[in-house]
Formats: sequence, structure tokens, C-alpha cells
Amino acid sequence: MTKKCVVLGVTGSIAAYKACDIASRLRKLDVDVRIILTRAGSEIITPLALETVSANPVVVDMFNRENPWEVEHIALAKRADVFLVAPATANFIGKAANGIADDMLSTTVLATRAPILAAPAMNVNMYENAAVMENMETLRKRGWHFVEPGEGMLACGDVGKGRLAEPEAIVNAVMKLLYPRNDLMGKHVLVSAGPTQEKIDPVRYITNRSSGKMGYAIAEAAAARGAKVTLVSGPVSLPVPRGVERVNVVSSSDMFEAIHANFPACDGLVMAAAPADFTPAVAAEQKIKKNGREGMSLELAATRDILKSIGQRKGNKRVMGFAAETENLRENAGKKLETKNLDMIAANDVTAAGAGFGVDTNAVTLYMRDGSFEQSGSMTKRALADWLLDRLFPQA
Ligand code: CTP
Repeated sequence: MTKKCVVLGVTGSIAAYKACDIASRLRKLDVDVRIILTRAGSEIITPLALETVSANPVVVDMFNRENPWEVEHIALAKRADVFLVAPATANFIGKAANGIADDMLSTTVLATRAPILAAPAMNVNMYENAAVMENMETLRKRGWHFVEPGEGMLACGDVGKGRLAEPEAIVNAVMKLLYPRNDLMGKHVLVSAGPTQEKIDPVRYITNRSSGKMGYAIAEAAAARGAKVTLVSGPVSLPVPRGVERVNVVSSSDMFEAIHANFPACDGLVMAAAPADFTPAVAAEQKIKKNGREGMSLELAATRDILKSIGQRKGNKRVMGFAAETENLRENAGKKLETKNLDMIAANDVTAAGAGFGVDTNAVTLYMRDGSFEQSGSMTKRALADWLLDRLFPQA
């Protein structure tokens, strides 16, 4: 097996010298450590020290013409299994929260899809400053992980929170991200996500408000837990999650075909997409002109219900549906569970705040075939993804 790679960003905090300890501990755990040192960081610790402990070249600045790594920031971003920034200064956190890429480290961190872990280190007043707190909150919402700084006497003499967490705690947090739960290893999970587009004419279509975020979070979570994941996706502007194979579709009919084509090889299906229930009876070949009409009606034909047809051939595969409702949650979801022959259905009231379309949080009630149900409470879609997978594959 090839070694896991941790890209370690070292910024200009006085704690930068502790990066040597972190790199050396990671190396002892058989991790390939690639270090990016900011210019300010290089005032505190030398590249040579970090090169020695990591046994790899250290990248200092992307505009250094002598540096053979200068165009390699994308390669490093891709190589990372975990991206660690320790110590992370207030300045670095502020830049990252705002998408500023003005040096090698901030550029690479913007280009990575790896889980990102930051260990802040700064003066207590800086750490407690609303700007820093808000920047960290922004990054947390984007999925960043933080190792909280410790409390105690700081380099400047102040006492409080801001001291870089212990290298051991940082390394433990890295290892948890490098080797997360692997309980879905060997399983093939099929996930659908997003809306569909139903063609009216070459320039118009019917669609719905599904953002695809829930389905993408499920695909990402299943892949992170070791599953092989096929994601059948309607048109959305989300990046393909790490380790996921995406099949792009446009219409409800395309989605029907793609789900049926991929269903036989899977162990379970999570149907988080919102395929259209109706499609124009005929899609016009040419753009429909107004021609002075006062109004027009569009004839729609029902699409095929994907889950219902899957339900008829599901065998002992696990199938989860979703029900987006605006009223009578239990009754409506219960009916769908029965008629579509599902194992479970995650129902949400899309009118509730912090649930449903476009937002990053969700709250569902999961109804089972035996009539029991469980409420998730409000959580991020990514956390909810794990909660749902725990229930779809219980002994996994
Ligand atoms: N679904 C499907 N095929 C369709 C429409 C919906 O497989 N053509 C799936 C959705 O992906 C979701 C579940 O069925 O997992 C419930 O979707 P929903 O639109 O809420 O239910 P419908 O059966 O379409 O009922 P209604 O629109 O009347 O609420």
C-alpha cells in the first residue's frame, strides 16, 4: 500500500518550531509528510529543519523562481489525504475563510479536496476576537476541522487560550481523519441527487428547487466510510465528492435509466434526488414563439416513478427514499414507504427553518417498515448523512 500523505502547512506563529515535533511524529507513523512553510513561518523555523524531520523538500513560496515546486501546488493539493495547518495564525485563518490565495499555502489549501485540519495558535485576545471566531465558524461550516488551542501562559506573557494544542493531540486528530470509519468497506452504495430538467423547447425546461446537497453529502459520507459509491446526479453545480463515481443525468427519464442500470451491482440505494413527476408531453424541436398569444398551456405527462419500479425488484437490497412534504408528514411519508416498497423513508418538512432545499442543515423523521420512527434533530447535511447510513446499514 502506498503511504498516506499529510500536507502540513506551517505559518508564522512562534509555535512554528513545534511543527518539527508534529512532522517527526507523523513520519514515525509511516505518513508521507509534505511541508509548505509560509514566508512568515520561515522567519521562525528554517526549511532545513523541516526538511530534515520530514525527509522531503519543503516548499516555501510559490513565487520563488528557483523552486522546482512552484507549479506543484495543485499536485500537492491532490496528493494530500489530510491537509493539516499547524500552527495556523489568525492571518491564515482569515485568508482561508475569505478564499484569498496569495502564497503557496493559501493557494494549495484552496485547491485541495482533502479533509482540512487547522490547529490555531495566537494571542488570547486575538483568538477571542470576533473576526477570528467568525472566520473559524465560516470554515467549520465548510467542513474544516480544528484542534482547539490549549490554555496557559502564552509566548507574549498573557495567560489564556491560544497556545498551540499539544503535538500529540494534533497527530491523533490527523490519524482519525486519515483512518476514519471503514465500516462500509466492501459495500456498493448507489445514491441519487439533485433535480432533473424536463425539456420544453431548446431554451426552456421545468425543474425544481433541489440543490443536490443532501445526496452529495450521503455520497461523500459513504465513500469516506469505505464504500464504493455511484452517484447519479441531476444538473447541480457541486463538485464530485472524493472517491465517488458520478453519472450525470438531465431528465427524470435519464435518471430512471441510470438508476436501473446501476441498481443490480449495488447493495443499497439512497434516492435523495427530486426527479420531476411530470414532463412536457412533447418537447418542441424549435423555440416556442409568442406569436401574439395571450397565454398558453403546456401539456404534461407523468414520468415513471423510479423508486416504485426499483421497489418491485429490490430483493434484499437496502433502499431508502426521501419525502419532501409541506403537510401531514407522517401520513404522506408512510404511504410512500408502503407503495414504493422501501426499507425506510427520510421525511422532512421543507417549510421548516433549517431543513430542506438549498440549506446546509436538515432535520428528518425516519420511518421504518415496522411502523417505528426516529427523529434526527437538526444537524448539518454531512452529519445527517452518517446518521442515515448508520440506519440503512445497521450492522455494517
Ligand atoms: N421519486 C422517484 N421517481 C419519481 C419521483 C420521485 O423515485 N419520478 C422518489 C424521490 O427520489 C424520493 C421519493 O420518490 O425518494 C419521494 O418523492 P416525492 O416526490 O416526495 O414523492 P412522490 O411519490 O412523487 O409523491 P408526491 O409528489 O405526490 O408527494
